[in-house]
Amino acid sequence: MNALRLPTMRSSEARITPMTRRHIPRAVELEAQAYPRGWSRSVFRSELDQVGRGGRRYLAAVEGRRLVGYAGLWVVAGTGGSEAHITNIVVDPDHRRCGIATRLLVALAREARGAGVTGWTLEVRASATGAQELYRGFGFAPAGVRKAYYEQGEDAVVMWCHSIGDDGYDGLLDQLELGEGRS
Ligand SMILES: CC(C)(COP(=O)(O)OP(=O)(O)OC[C@H]1O[C@@H](n2cnc3c(N)ncnc32)[C@H](O)[C@@H]1OP(=O)(O)O)[C@@H](O)C(=O)NCCC(=O)NCCS
Repeated sequence: MNALRLPTMRSSEARITPMTRRHIPRAVELEAQAYPRGWSRSVFRSELDQVGRGGRRYLAAVEGRRLVGYAGLWVVAGTGGSEAHITNIVVDPDHRRCGIATRLLVALAREARGAGVTGWTLEVRASATGAQELYRGFGFAPAGVRKAYYEQGEDAVVMWCHSIGDDGYDGLLDQLELGEGRS
């Protein structure tokens, strides 16, 4: 007889909260699972230190007391409005496809809009097609390629979204937050 197959968990109870230094040890573990050469403790410390000075925003997704994801944004003031770069986003492999990255990005997008950001951008591994799909849902489109940007010579796809400051973007964020389109 076939084993009973339970439906895949599609939503997460994770809380979205500011990332702090106490999240760093678990974040370093998640980095090692996500990337060939992930961020070290000192990189996280340096990034989080810049939050207080207004240059970065970092959010954590926490289930119970366990860090299950995090994402960061670098806001750069420009002449025609501010730009924001997504610095990193990682979700625990055991908690993927439950909408955690979506919720982290929705929260960062709302903060970015509040800071007057008119365009946001990121680099993503050419092989990370799942991540690219996630970003497309937020209105990002490929804008170029940085050859051999990553270790082992992998190319980066540069993606941009220029509609984050538009009035209608808030509606998109509401839909994404509600999981519209998710099964
Ligand atoms: C990319 C990553 C952050 C996505 O996290 P997640 O919490 O699983 O993403 P979500 O559940 O919010 O996914 C939202 C949508 O993105 C797309 N998506 C995400 N992961 C996908 C995958 N592996 N394959 C195809 N589509 C994917 C889907 O459209 C998904 O919606 P659906 O589940 O209803 O089909 C996670 O896979 C990860 O940590 N990867 C390793 C690190 C990394 O590559 N980070 C990006 C660096 S630029």
